[in-house]
Parts: sequence; structure tokens; C-alpha cells
Amino acid sequence: MEKPYRRRDLLGIRELSADDIRGILDTAENFREINAREIKKVPTLRGKTVINLFFENSTRTRTSFELAAKRLSADAVNISVSSSSVSKGETLVDTALNLDAMQPDCIVVRHGSAGVPHQLAKVSKAAIVNAGDGANEHPTQALLDAMTIREHKKKIQGLEVAIVGDILHSRVARSNIHLLTKLGASVRVAGPGTLVPSEFGGLVESGLTVCPHVEDAIAGADVVMILRIQRERQDSAYFPTLREYAVHYGLTNDRLDLAKKDAIVLHPGPMNRGIEIASDVADSSRSLILDQVKYGVAVRMAVLYLSTGGSMISG
Ligand code: CP
Repeated sequence: MEKPYRRRDLLGIRELSADDIRGILDTAENFREINAREIKKVPTLRGKTVINLFFENSTRTRTSFELAAKRLSADAVNISVSSSSVSKGETLVDTALNLDAMQPDCIVVRHGSAGVPHQLAKVSKAAIVNAGDGANEHPTQALLDAMTIREHKKKIQGLEVAIVGDILHSRVARSNIHLLTKLGASVRVAGPGTLVPSEFGGLVESGLTVCPHVEDAIAGADVVMILRIQRERQDSAYFPTLREYAVHYGLTNDRLDLAKKDAIVLHPGPMNRGIEIASDVADSSRSLILDQVKYGVAVRMAVLYLSTGGSMISG
């Protein structure tokens, strides 16, 4: 069954309704099997052009957007910012206007500053997709996390999800909090006091609890999501040493034993083994870290398809 998708840009989960989110996830489910075929290509986006404009490093997001575009037969162009005219002093908006003049259908942008995709969406005729903007949002990460949770728990409504670590600098945490609470999960966040914003409790939808201790967040959880320490966004010392961080906040098997017996572990990557997550947890059968990466391609196929005029597919 098809249902019209009335949006063009994907700037954040904050702007989406629960129906939009479910529609994107259902569409991704429909694209998923293409990635398991021997010939992983369909003509759905033939003739469309997708530009990947990444101002920050990426392994998973940039590669999966490129694979998603190519598997749908779109032309994918990757712009390396270090070799572009941005390094000659061109403004962000001028760069976007010049790329837009080449009439792409979609520009996927990652930038270190919050709000850059929103700024580009105001001047661009192409659909803008946010691939991570500063500490603001990373909507496709939250969508692929939700797809992973749905696959393993068969629902999101009513689940208890612990998000642990550097909440303050995490766009993944923000997008996940919006998505999970919109779909009816209870979210508990915890980490070092310096890395958990005190205003969070009043900032977001109901369904979010800020816990004083990591153990409180993990106890009884269905899903434990561990975040990377975002050292590139930390402008001062938020905790004494990495060793102390690992001891007090890292996910070990002992801490994971506080969660439900069938709890699953997620991490958006890149992970710092032995710091925010012990290697034996990361490599255990409860860890779905590589499933998250796998579902990232299907989610990004759905996002590119919907942002370029496709309808939501379910069933
Ligand atoms: N999860 C994530 O955004 O990873 P990359 O930085 O490798 O894209």
C-alpha cells in the first residue's frame, strides 16, 4: 500500500510526526531485501542525482548514503570539502547555491555546526537531507536505530531504552530521544554529570528521565544504547581520565546484567573499545552494532526515495 509523503527535506526527527517516522521505517523495510540480492540494484531513482556534501569525517553515513543512491540507480557525487572551493574561502551558502545550480535532486549534508542543513534548505531547490549537524540531530541514525529495535523487539511502543554516555554533545541522542518518545518508548539518559544537560528534562517530550547513575538507567532496560565520547566537540575536561570514564560509565557485562535478560545493545559507531563499551560486550550476541550499519543502507534508500518524490510504502 502506498501513502503520499508530504515532506521534501529531512532536517531532523523533531519535525516529523509519528506517522512520518513509521512511514519511513515501513518504506525502508520494503527496500531492505534489495541489499540481500546478488544484483543489488533497482531502477527506482534512475536519472536522479544525489550530492554527498560532508564537512566532517564519516565512514558509515557517507558510504551508506552513496550505496543507497547507487543501489537505487541514482547518480551519486561525493564532494570532498578539503579539495573543494570551501578551502578558498567560499561561503557555505555560495557553495550550496553553486551545487544547486547543477540541478541535483538531493543534497546530503554533514556539518560541524548545528542548523547548517536548515540554512541550506532555505536556499536550495534540491531536497536537503541532514547527515548530522553539530550536536543537534542525526535523523537517519535514529531511524536506523529504530529499524534495528523494531526488527529485534517487534515494536517500539512501551519499550524502556537507556541512552548512556556523552549526551551533551550527541546528535544521535537528541534524534533518538525525539524518535523513541514520539513512538511511545520510555527513555532514560545517564552519564557524567558534566555530559548530561540539566535542562533536558524540561526540553523534550514526555517519556524522558534523566538518571543520576548509569546503573539506574540500565536497570530493567530493553535496549541499552551507548554513545561515543565526542572528544572533537569537547572544549574542556568533562571527566578526569578515560580510565575513570571506563570504570564509572563504561558498559561492562556486569552493568549489562542489570538490564532485561533479552536486552539488546546499540552503539552508533565509531566505538572506543574499552572506554564507553567493553570489547566482550561489543562482540557479544546481544550487540547489534553491525545490524545497525546494515539497516542504515535501507533507511537511507527510503530517505532518498521519499525526499525525491516517492510515496511511503507499507505491507
Ligand atoms: N554513526 C555515524 O554517524 O558514523 P559515521 O561518523 O562513520 O558516519
